[in-house]
Amino acid sequence: MLVASSLSKQYATATGPVRVLDQVSFELHRGDAAAVTGPSGCGKSTLLHLLGALDTPTSGSVTLDGQNAFSLNESAQALFRNDKIGFVFQDHCLLPQCTVLENVLAPTLIAKPDPGVNDRAEFLIDRVGLSTRATHKPAELSGGEKQRVAIARALIRNPILLLADEPTGNLDEATAESIANLLFELHKENQAILLCVTHSSDLAARFPIRFRMHRGLLERS
Ligand SMILES: Nc1ncnc2c1ncn2[C@@H]1O[C@H](COP(=O)(O)OP(=O)(O)OP(=O)(O)O)[C@@H](O)[C@H]1O
Ligand SMILES: [Mg+2]
Repeated sequence: MLVASSLSKQYATATGPVRVLDQVSFELHRGDAAAVTGPSGCGKSTLLHLLGALDTPTSGSVTLDGQNAFSLNESAQALFRNDKIGFVFQDHCLLPQCTVLENVLAPTLIAKPDPGVNDRAEFLIDRVGLSTRATHKPAELSGGEKQRVAIARALIRNPILLLADEPTGNLDEATAESIANLLFELHKENQAILLCVTHSSDLAARFPIRFRMHRGLLERS
């Protein structure tokens, strides 16, 4: 279960504090799939970064399966993230010098050795439709293919929370739809918590739970 309680975030800037999130609270349970929409600059990525323990809130807390990542020291927090959270970023953030297989395996490098991990990587690469591309590097892939690799990488550690920040933002309509279908299929199989930021109202409409963000407030719509 993911619980955000009175989550606030302000950035200190030269012209004074910028208030981005204002007392955001919500709960999501395993198997939930939720979309977050809202105008550019309203704080969607900031929210995802806090939920994924990539940034710390000014006040408030986030717990995932009862654990508050912000109470952990830096190395324990890195392990927590690695173990429990998968990220899919809009610009995929793949390692350019590594192959598809190496990119998918990257999150396993800091985890305890697991003999099953190569099979899981191959399974996921196949599952996202890239088994003939496993030895290719990102520069040899299309935008949609890179995003498929990013999804496989996000799932390699079987996270209980999958955070996706505009995963279809840079893709044409047909490719975006196939990526969205893939996310939903994998979500159904894994029964994790899926939280997806999107500017697409068509994509948001496919989520059973929908949040809208406006001026730092998050409302269920
Ligand atoms: N490090 C920072 N320092 C100061 N202000 C920041 C910082 N990071 C983000 N902001 C501000 O916080 C606000 C929210 O940014 P955020 O990236 O969360 O928006 P967003 O909803 O994801 O927008 P988009 O849809 O364009 O991706 C913006 O006004 C941005 O300028
Ligand atoms: Mg953003």
